Amino acid sequence: MEFDEAGALSGMLELMKKMNRTISIAPMMDYTDRHDRYFLRLLAPHVLLYTEMMTTGALLHGDYQRFLAFDASEHPVALQLGGSEPDKLAQCARMGEDFGYDEINLNVGCPSDRVKSGRFGACLMLEPTEVGDCVAAMKQVINIPVTVKCRIGVDHADSYEELTHFIQTVNQAGCHIFIIHARKAWLNGLSPKQNREIPPLQYETVHAIKRDFPDLTIVINGGIKLTSEIEEQLKHVDGVMIGREAYSNPYWLAEIEKRIFSFDTNETCQRETVIQKLIPYIVDQLKNNIKLSSITRHILGLYQGQKGARIWRRYLSENAHRQNASIEIINEALQHARNII
Ligand SMILES: Cc1cc2nc3c(=O)[nH]c(=O)nc-3n(C[C@H](O)[C@H](O)[C@H](O)COP(=O)(O)O)c2cc1C
Repeated sequence: MEFDEAGALSGMLELMKKMNRTISIAPMMDYTDRHDRYFLRLLAPHVLLYTEMMTTGALLHGDYQRFLAFDASEHPVALQLGGSEPDKLAQCARMGEDFGYDEINLNVGCPSDRVKSGRFGACLMLEPTEVGDCVAAMKQVINIPVTVKCRIGVDHADSYEELTHFIQTVNQAGCHIFIIHARKAWLNGLSPKQNREIPPLQYETVHAIKRDFPDLTIVINGGIKLTSEIEEQLKHVDGVMIGREAYSNPYWLAEIEKRIFSFDTNETCQRETVIQKLIPYIVDQLKNNIKLSSITRHILGLYQGQKGARIWRRYLSENAHRQNASIEIINEALQHARNII
């Protein structure tokens, strides 16, 4: 068989495009479920999407088929795992790879009580060797990348030396890609929400990690809300992960596509066009007994900053949860928004 150079090149380009980490959307519990990811993908063809955290317990003892299911259009999509037992994480990573996920990410940044009591999440930053063992166990059984999402420190273990020791140890176990939320976490005394707001952002610490570990892929996370901020961060690190702003103001992603990926979104990405593309998906989901409001709750922010924003949000919030709510609710909400714009 002749070597198909053009084919090989296009395959390589495809793969590079697929693993683009310039912009990713953060894992967010109860937010970035499969419906939200389907919607975000319509707005942003080039970003890397993350699932909500799934614990090893939930996957090994729960309805894993339902938890892991996703739509092919979501690629590239990473599965975030929560756990601290290498063998269980390895089993779940394997399940993720079998389901077709593009990356397995270990959560070492979440500070909630539930997570602490299960000895995973941010408290694992205090145990770099154990995190390394988890990474090594997962790498042994899968071929897709294993990445770690962490903080810059926890409690009083917040020196730069402690952070570099963590990165070095986990890197030696085989992780080359770190997503770093640029603030520390207080394990006692602050709620998860407060832990996303009160400890100050220290972007310089993450930039220093990239300077000191130039061969690693370093993605920065935390408090980034403007395209100009993304552009500034990309001078220092390999990628930017955005969370809350992408959820509350999803149309920002269309601007990111234009400015960061030079992807012309004018035609394909008008708000209404996106909803028209979402409608067949919603119709399908309704047939599977998914409630309309389980999907519409993710699209409430679509018109943020526009004249029709309030009526869009209000009409959907008041009507989509009604029993037997049908796709007509979306058409009516569109009609209302259209009349105001
Ligand atoms: C509602 C909510 C749920 C979250 N759930 C997770 C999670 O499951 N796993 C995780 O690593 N981080 C989680 N986070 C943290 C985000 O991934 C991100 O690190 C944080 O929001 C900071 O980024 P931002 O300022 O761009 O929102 C969550 C954040 C929010 C707001």
